[in-house]
Amino acid sequence: MNYQELLDKARKKMAPHCRVCKECNGVACKGEIPGTGGKGNGNAFKVCVDFLASVKINMDTIYEDNGQDTSISLFGKKFKYPFFAAPIGGMDFNYNGAITEAEYAEAVVKGTNKAGTAAFTGDGAPDHILLDALPAIKEVGGLAVPTIKPWKNDKAIEKIRKIEEVNAMAFAMDIDSAGLINLALAGKPVSPKSVDELKELSQATKIPFIVKGVMTAKGALKALEAGAYGIVVSSHGGRVLQDAPATCAVLPEIREAVGDKIKIFVDGGIRSGADVFKAIALGADAVLIGRPYVIAAFGGGAEGVALYTEKIGAELRETMIMTGCSKISDINRDKIII
Ligand SMILES: Cc1cc2nc3c(=O)[nH]c(=O)nc-3n(C[C@H](O)[C@H](O)[C@H](O)COP(=O)(O)O)c2cc1C
Repeated sequence: MNYQELLDKARKKMAPHCRVCKECNGVACKGEIPGTGGKGNGNAFKVCVDFLASVKINMDTIYEDNGQDTSISLFGKKFKYPFFAAPIGGMDFNYNGAITEAEYAEAVVKGTNKAGTAAFTGDGAPDHILLDALPAIKEVGGLAVPTIKPWKNDKAIEKIRKIEEVNAMAFAMDIDSAGLINLALAGKPVSPKSVDELKELSQATKIPFIVKGVMTAKGALKALEAGAYGIVVSSHGGRVLQDAPATCAVLPEIREAVGDKIKIFVDGGIRSGADVFKAIALGADAVLIGRPYVIAAFGGGAEGVALYTEKIGAELRETMIMTGCSKISDINRDKIII
């Protein structure tokens, strides 16, 4: 299977929920929640894609070539590439149910592992969304990051115990889900978390804790105070707040505020190896990619996920060759023009 065949297959299988557009930018699916779109006018999704397109990369091929090492270390482990699959839940209500939650988790967890990276997995109103991912995570020796909704702390800690059972290398909480309407509609409301509540969660386990859905320097400092290992600068794919800014646009001020005290992931509209490069140059340690991984799983299962990972990895490597970067830490602000 090649990538074009994967897309063709996915387009047929995902209709009408995801159109598998030539550019995955939130225009065709705007306002479609449940579904794959951004909230309301869809701008919070589209602005991420548009911002990344506006960032330019400086070309320089006059240097002594020592090859390119695309690997990074996180959670005390080494990964071949600095990007991961973002957590996505709701294969039936956001997509058309053509693959189950367990099948999606299996494809994305095993496919990314095969290609040398890892996946975050999702959660939702039905308990099984989180639970269905755990067997696949156990099978890969815990090399994944289950992500739980901001449930009340006693319920969240119950879920953390299940995550510990499969030896997950970290867990995340998408605190921005406080704004998700489908949880409220399903009678399972979630709410914002105080620093003390987040601290209780990070202290409840030895597993590193990642706070997902931070969009300001102040928010990042609060996550740091709560004892988080890392944050994901994310607007939940533009699904929780209409007219939120581009995630990569707020990234530099967040990095400046927290320095190297916390790991920074970013997601939202990252669609190519060049985009991964730009996000790292803007201050991210690593990147998450969401919707395109669902397309890869629908189009080709675990094989499709591995193929997509290698495609983005190859593009990143090519960008590093053209910019004189022999390792990920060479990718910095001097390499781009904003
Ligand atoms: C259909 C759908 C379901 C999602 N489910 C979750 C989830 O369960 N947990 C979570 O933390 N984020 C969830 N997200 C947000 C993604 O993890 C990610 O932040 C977002 O898709 C941005 O990346 P993208 O533009 O590459 O898709 C979901 C996004 C979509 C589109």
